[in-house]
Amino acid sequence: MRKPVTVLDILAKKGKEPVVMVTSYDATMARIVDEADVDIILVGDSAGMVMAGLENTLGVSMDMMVYHTLCVTRVKPKALVVADMPFLSYQAGVHDAVVNAGRLIQEGCAQAVKVEGGMRVIDQVRAIVKADIPVMGHLGLTPQSVHAFGGYKVQGRSEAAAQRLKEDALALEDAGVFSIVLECVPTSLAEEVTRSLVVPTIGIGAGPACDGQVLVIQDLLGMSKEFKPKFVKRYAELFDSIKDAVTTYAREVRSRAFPSEEHCFKG
Ligand code: KIV
Repeated sequence: MRKPVTVLDILAKKGKEPVVMVTSYDATMARIVDEADVDIILVGDSAGMVMAGLENTLGVSMDMMVYHTLCVTRVKPKALVVADMPFLSYQAGVHDAVVNAGRLIQEGCAQAVKVEGGMRVIDQVRAIVKADIPVMGHLGLTPQSVHAFGGYKVQGRSEAAAQRLKEDALALEDAGVFSIVLECVPTSLAEEVTRSLVVPTIGIGAGPACDGQVLVIQDLLGMSKEFKPKFVKRYAELFDSIKDAVTTYAREVRSRAFPSEEHCFKG
């Protein structure tokens, strides 16, 4: 029987074996990815885009995150469940940060939360950790800063930006995070940050030197026709598989080939 994964297990993987993280937002997918033996299920605020059809993550609310987190934790996965703190649930201050992180733990039943940003949210990270809620950091291309960045661009390319990111990572570690997501940063920078930290880094578009990797499950499964960023490897082409299946179903309903006798009840 597989034991539940804890934040201590994730910390212990540093330097030993890679951390496997994937997103999920609903019970069906959570059951599947948990059976696939992932270490962490991230209930990302990417839910806003892949589940709710929003243009970016900025419109995601706390209620949405609590709902999706609960959909995942209800199936009692063995993987550690980390829930994203959405835009404006922590930026305005320490009080909001602790109360909203607490909601994801108390109402959503997550085991940890993820916060975007470094030094600028360090007081909030410290306060959440002080409330005994494990925190995962997130640096580099932090999607909640899309307007400040002027779009979804690789971060940390200039020397000054790379230096800031390295300082942010050390500040987050000092504030007590148990891991840090590095999104869309040059491989060499991710490698340097990973070497400088005691806690594991989990990369997305940050190269192979990170202590683990994360992908959005819909990207990994090829469920979108248009969204094909460089850092995503598609392990299936489910958009086409699902479309083919539904096209066949529609044809069989129209031709009355479905339902056949095997799908019917006798009187
Ligand atoms: O919201 C999300 O899915 C994320 C991952 C891309 C790291 O933050």
